Amino acid sequence: MDSPVSLADAVKGATAVLADAGVPSPAVDAQLLAAHLLGVGRGELAAMLFGSAAAPAGYDALVARRAAREPLQHITGVAYFRHLELSVGKGVFVPRPETESVVQLALDVLTRMSQEREGGLSAVDLGTGSGAIAASLATEAAGVRVHAVELSDDAFPWAQRNLAGTGATLVHGDMRDALHELDGTVDVVVSNPPYIPADAIPRDLEVRLHDPHMALYGGGADGMEMPTAAAATAARLLRPGGYFVMEHAEVQAAQMAALLEGSGAWENVRSHVDLTGRDRATSGWRR
Ligand SMILES: C[S@@+](CC[C@H](N)C(=O)[O-])C[C@H]1O[C@@H](n2cnc3c(N)ncnc32)[C@H](O)[C@@H]1O
Repeated sequence: MDSPVSLADAVKGATAVLADAGVPSPAVDAQLLAAHLLGVGRGELAAMLFGSAAAPAGYDALVARRAAREPLQHITGVAYFRHLELSVGKGVFVPRPETESVVQLALDVLTRMSQEREGGLSAVDLGTGSGAIAASLATEAAGVRVHAVELSDDAFPWAQRNLAGTGATLVHGDMRDALHELDGTVDVVVSNPPYIPADAIPRDLEVRLHDPHMALYGGGADGMEMPTAAAATAARLLRPGGYFVMEHAEVQAAQMAALLEGSGAWENVRSHVDLTGRDRATSGWRR
């Protein structure tokens, strides 16, 4: 009888398979898939790789899925975002690290507002997807009433799942026409809308094949239709002195600033860099 393949050999082999398939971080992904199957963290897995553990059953099948460029998060079912473990899978946009910085901008403003004002604050997340932004605001900004809007039938159940128990209110609808009952009253609006231009097909197969089109393409040749709609809804929802921050592609920074400055609804329009120094968000204060 053949002796079982050792965990260390299996992870080494998987790293080579994933590297051949063009996966950007083959060693890390090979380890995370093994850790997922074994139900351990990466630190514990590192210790196990020095021991005599056998490869877990089903490992090759998960490695094959990743080699076919299915996102790691779809295979493990988990995306890490700030302090949250979000459930993700088919039909929902996998939240990205740059969005964590956008959330921080909103949280900083909410903190300042809560120091300056008596009474509860409110925040809205337009195009919530997995619920990443809304769940962060609801769990990190104490006492803030959070509302989230999502149009996609496929993404909505993921938002429902991730926002359950956070206190956030989730609306299944179009950000262009949602939450009229809050018009002129909201303190902070955050959005990571679809913004990719029609012909800027993403290079990464994980994005191109697995992120929903409704989450990626902003509409129109320059991808600006949904960002423009998000800004218009933010202007409608916010009270005077309210804050809006929106994520976008680096190349769209000047366009986003011009969009907000040109509408007459905003003052103190600013660009914000992500952790790699790229202009990835624009904010403004409602006049
Ligand atoms: C780039 S994803 C961002 C998801 C999530 N906020 C995040 O940052 O990970 C954009 C989201 O907006 C949703 N969306 C697109 N058009 C919409 C619309 N008209 N109204 C509401 N949501 C919309 C998409 O389905 C998708 O979930």
